[in-house]
Amino acid sequence: MKVEWNGEVDESLRPRLPERLSALYHENSKLFPELARRQAEGLTMSSMEQFISSRGFLQHPQHPQVALPEPEPGAASLTEVLRARRSGRELSGGFGLTCLSTLLQQALGPTLVYATDSGVTQAVRAWPSAGGLYPLDTYVLARAVDGLPPGLYHYNIATVALERMPARPVDEVVRDGFFWQDWVCNAAAIVLLVAAFDRTLAKYGDRGYRLVLLDAGHAAQNLLLVSEQERLGACAVAGFCDDALAADLGIDGVDEAVVHSVVLGARSV
Ligand SMILES: Cc1cc2nc3c(=O)[nH]c(=O)nc-3n(C[C@H](O)[C@H](O)[C@H](O)COP(=O)(O)O)c2cc1C
Repeated sequence: MKVEWNGEVDESLRPRLPERLSALYHENSKLFPELARRQAEGLTMSSMEQFISSRGFLQHPQHPQVALPEPEPGAASLTEVLRARRSGRELSGGFGLTCLSTLLQQALGPTLVYATDSGVTQAVRAWPSAGGLYPLDTYVLARAVDGLPPGLYHYNIATVALERMPARPVDEVVRDGFFWQDWVCNAAAIVLLVAAFDRTLAKYGDRGYRLVLLDAGHAAQNLLLVSEQERLGACAVAGFCDDALAADLGIDGVDEAVVHSVVLGARSV
C-alpha cells in the first residue's frame, strides 16, 4: 500500500513539549518518513565529515606499545555463557595478559580489516554499529594484570597492541573516577568505552547520540559474555564521574567522552 503524506503535521497531535531534558532530546531526535526522505535527498557530507565518519578507530603510535598475545578462547557454549552471566562485584586478584587479550580481541577487536574504495582502512567488529561507523575506542585501566605494568592503556586494534598512555597512578584514576563504588577499587582491569561522537553524528545528526549509546551497550555485552566464558567477575558500570575520567584520559568529555565501562577481576567465589 502506498501512503501519501504532504509533509504537514497536525500540531494538535504533537505531544506537549516535555520539561525533562531527556524527553526534550528524545522528541527532537525522532525519525519519521518525511525527515528520512529529506535527509537522504540532502545527504552531502563535506570531505572532512567523510574522513571523520570513516576513521573507524584511533591509534596512538607515539606511545610505548605492549603487544597482545594470541587469545585463548574458552570452551563454553554460547548457551552456557548466556545462562550463566550475572554481574559480579566480589572481585579478588588479577588475571594474565593473555586473558585480557582474549577479552579485548574477542569482544571488541576487528573481525575483518579492509580498504574502502576511497582507500580508507576500515575494521568491522563483532558488535553491530549504526552505519558501520564504530564510534567507540577502547581504553583499559590495568591494576592487576600479570605481565602488564599498572597504568592506562589504549587498545590499538590495528597493531594488536596496548598503547601506554601518560596518566596518574591508576589507583588514583580509579578512586576519583568511580568515587562512591568502593568495590571497583578491587578490579584487576576496567575497560572504558570512549565515544568519538562525530563519527556517528556526521551522518545521523543529533539522533546519532542515541545510536552511539546503543553501540556502547552492544559492545559492553560482548565483553560481559567473553568475561563469563573466561569465568571472570565482570560488571557493566555507568556510575562514574564523567569529568574525572575525561581529564585522566586527556579527552574533552564532550566531543569525546567515556560512555560506558566494564569492571573486571578474578571471582572471589
Ligand atoms: C548501563 C548499565 C549501567 C550499570 N551501572 C552500574 C553501576 O554503576 N554500578 C553497579 O554496581 N552496577 C551497574 N550495572 C549493573 C546492573 O546493576 C545489573 O546489570 C543489574 O542489576 C542486573 O543484574 P545482572 O547483571 O546480574 O543480571 C549497570 C548495568 C547497565 C546495563
